Amino acid sequence: MENSSLILAIAAVLFVHGADAGADLSRPHLETRNGVRQLVVDGKPFLVLGGELRNSSSSSREYMKSVWPRLVEKKLNTVLAVVSWELIEPEEGRFDFASVDGFIDDARKNNMKVVFLWFGSWKNGLSSYPPYWVKTNPQRFPWAKNRDGRTLDILSTFSDATRDADAKAFAALMRHIRQVDGKEHTVLMMQVENEVGIRDDSRDRCPAANEAFSKPVPKALMNYLVKRKDTLAPELREVWAANGSKTSGTWEEVFGPGKPDSVKLYGPDLTQERKDILWRQLSWPVDEFFMAWRYSTFIHKVTAAGKAGYDIPMYANAWLQQPGGPRPGEYPSGGPVPQVHDIWRFGAPSLDFLAPDHYISQFSEACERFTRNGNPLFIPEANTGGQAGANALTALLKFNGIGFSPFGIDGFGFRPRPQGTNAPAPSADSFAQTYAILDYLAPVILDNQGTGTIVFLEPMNDTNAPPQEVKLGDYTLNLSYGTGGFGGRGGLGGGLGGFGEGPTVTNASPARLVINSGPGEYVFVGGPMTVTFTPNTPGRGGVVLGSFDETMLVDGRWVPGRRLNGDETDHSRRWPARRSFGIYRYRVYRRD
Ligand code: DGJ
Repeated sequence: MENSSLILAIAAVLFVHGADAGADLSRPHLETRNGVRQLVVDGKPFLVLGGELRNSSSSSREYMKSVWPRLVEKKLNTVLAVVSWELIEPEEGRFDFASVDGFIDDARKNNMKVVFLWFGSWKNGLSSYPPYWVKTNPQRFPWAKNRDGRTLDILSTFSDATRDADAKAFAALMRHIRQVDGKEHTVLMMQVENEVGIRDDSRDRCPAANEAFSKPVPKALMNYLVKRKDTLAPELREVWAANGSKTSGTWEEVFGPGKPDSVKLYGPDLTQERKDILWRQLSWPVDEFFMAWRYSTFIHKVTAAGKAGYDIPMYANAWLQQPGGPRPGEYPSGGPVPQVHDIWRFGAPSLDFLAPDHYISQFSEACERFTRNGNPLFIPEANTGGQAGANALTALLKFNGIGFSPFGIDGFGFRPRPQGTNAPAPSADSFAQTYAILDYLAPVILDNQGTGTIVFLEPMNDTNAPPQEVKLGDYTLNLSYGTGGFGGRGGLGGGLGGFGEGPTVTNASPARLVINSGPGEYVFVGGPMTVTFTPNTPGRGGVVLGSFDETMLVDGRWVPGRRLNGDETDHSRRWPARRSFGIYRYRVYRRD
């Protein structure tokens, strides 16, 4: 090729790729900043302040009319909503995306982003959402079997036909979303399936499953585990080690015996009820590992097909092990719970992360297990109720989460409306206030995730808490709570008043935190609270108040208030002691 044609060819390639690259950078995607995976939308990090609708709410646009104002009232910036296979592909190959388009349209009108949940082959482990033409054709789309040979309400992963039909529908959906939303980016992410896994048994026992179970662990998976032996989830590593850390062999040779079927185990004499009780008490992890491999590789194909249509972040969610249901099969066996994350990571590389549906009381513990090995935290489901606000803060601030979303948001905290009015009744809890604070602070939070500059001031709701010292950045902060006076080395003593009313918030958020958002810059959430600053390095002069910014609560949203450098702070010489809950920004410096 001549030089000039070569240059032209390169220019053409660059042009095409440049255009793609431009589109790619603005579409929702994940990026690592300060060691933290963040969701980036239109070039900016985005904090999902979400809520998940009940299962069927999004299937009716009419029904949603009265729900949207409630979501706005809750200060959500994102709604998680179902798209079901049966509604978009009622007949094989005939797609109807009217419900999807209507939902996106209404979300935009309400200034909200969307995470869609793909209810394809499975929802809560079961298969109630596939189309009728799938459910009624077991020859083509076979069902899983349990230990007694009974057919479960669960499509078997041992069917390429099911996988391919699901993947085809999901790909069509993603192509469509790209067409209608590829520029506006209302749709942020996709959840692929919902809480998959076998229920009422620890593994699928259809003939194809039994055959695969008796075969060696796939070599590629084995190699992956061997290579990552030192960083594997300890639960998986321990099971493997307890069985001799073999590097090849059948599933049972490598990970120990699986649960036999109930007849083999107990003989014919026990009643079925007794057998079931005894059987449930047994738990052998190999069955769960095997199913994790099956579900992850199935979902990988579905996800990859979807991404080929429109490449935005996608995740799978897990029904967690609960105190009342701790054994695989009592919770869906094979879903992306922490002990099988390594298998999922290798089986489904197209997924961006694995997410917990978090209904258990040890909130931080489960978050810790979900953030091992760099998995970012996104909580698509959690309890509503009194703890929801605090849990949102924990997920987003302590664990640098991408987002938080209580389940059943359409019914959360709303009293019945007075007859004849369409106005949403005010929420009785502090959740909306917490989201309002997070919404205001999102840019600061996202800037500071992963830098160790965000500190919870605990105990969160106790105005009688003893003073606290927090070493943060260049200063040590001395914080005292309640409405009492204040003083300290950094500022002038004595309570302040008479510099204008601070915002008054009843039912305040449980938030109380400080962010060291820059050199000498501190954003406080809380109140009543007073603060003084002591330099962490000796020498130089005293600490001076550079500026003090208040915020104001207007129609439930926090907005910037006044910069108080005049009489209100005695011309920056007094440290304003706020008597009410709020968000405040101090900038301090040292004068020689
Ligand atoms: C978890 C499921 O993922 C949701 O779809 C819903 O069924 C809730 N449980 C109900 O609590």
